[in-house]
Amino acid sequence: MKTFRLDNALPLNTTIPEPSLICLIGAAGSGKSTWASTWPDTQVLELDRFRAMVSDDGGCQESTADAVFALQAVLEARLARRKMTVIDATNCEKSVRADLVATARRHGLPTVALVIATLADVCVERQEGRPANRQVPEHVVRAQHAAMVEVVPGLPDEGFDYVVGAEGISRLEALLHCVSDSRRADLGWDGGEGLGDLLLVRRYFGPEILPLWRWRDASVLADGDRVAEVRLGADSLYLAQRTDIDGEGDVGFEVLVA
Ligand code: UTP
Ligand code: MG
Repeated sequence: MKTFRLDNALPLNTTIPEPSLICLIGAAGSGKSTWASTWPDTQVLELDRFRAMVSDDGGCQESTADAVFALQAVLEARLARRKMTVIDATNCEKSVRADLVATARRHGLPTVALVIATLADVCVERQEGRPANRQVPEHVVRAQHAAMVEVVPGLPDEGFDYVVGAEGISRLEALLHCVSDSRRADLGWDGGEGLGDLLLVRRYFGPEILPLWRWRDASVLADGDRVAEVRLGADSLYLAQRTDIDGEGDVGFEVLVA
């Protein structure tokens, strides 16, 4: 992986150190969360997620102070344990970056500024398809973009140990690894049991249903089709797995009335 130190502008053949604190820097829509997704979920502190946790609305700007307070508490706890951490926020304000650098320094971890310099026009265009509460007004996106461009040369002086351009690092393999590890476990290729015939159930209902799901030997209830029981506390439902639910050969599930 190639990283660049902007103070001498020489490509260094070095990896992003682990552990370290990575501060993403980029306008809304630049692709920060997409880059962040190449690190394991637990390592990413996304400000929008904290906004949602304190206010039920990831786009709620009024909740920013509370969201930052909560994010900082988690950051302190992680860095005290020397855990790799990625901050997914625009981080375009100097005081915000100064706090992050100071926190990492206090815990003796190196800091990486990962700059996502996507063109302003592209960032603006990407706002269009978003839900209303997540659309950032054009003048704000352009101001964030201008701030990002302006601060880059000064990042080493702000205390960042590494300044890396997103276009200069390779994270696709890391992303595929994360994704394929869980898929391999699902399929039992890691030597475990895998999901077996629960793969279909998960594809149909999602992973939340799996702990509640039991296949039952009760095919007489469903004219020979497989039957499953879904149970939560006092509630339980019986579902028949139909091999042709829509007359077009699609598999589906039908609730059986007791
Ligand atoms: P993100 O949702 O990752 O942007 O990408 P962001 O910087 O985190 O935005 P904010 O700050 O939370 O608002 C925005 C869009 O750009 C696409 C993503 O799929 C998403 O739809 N994208 C991102 C690309 O098409 N290519 C990329 O390399 C990165
Ligand atoms: Mg994001």
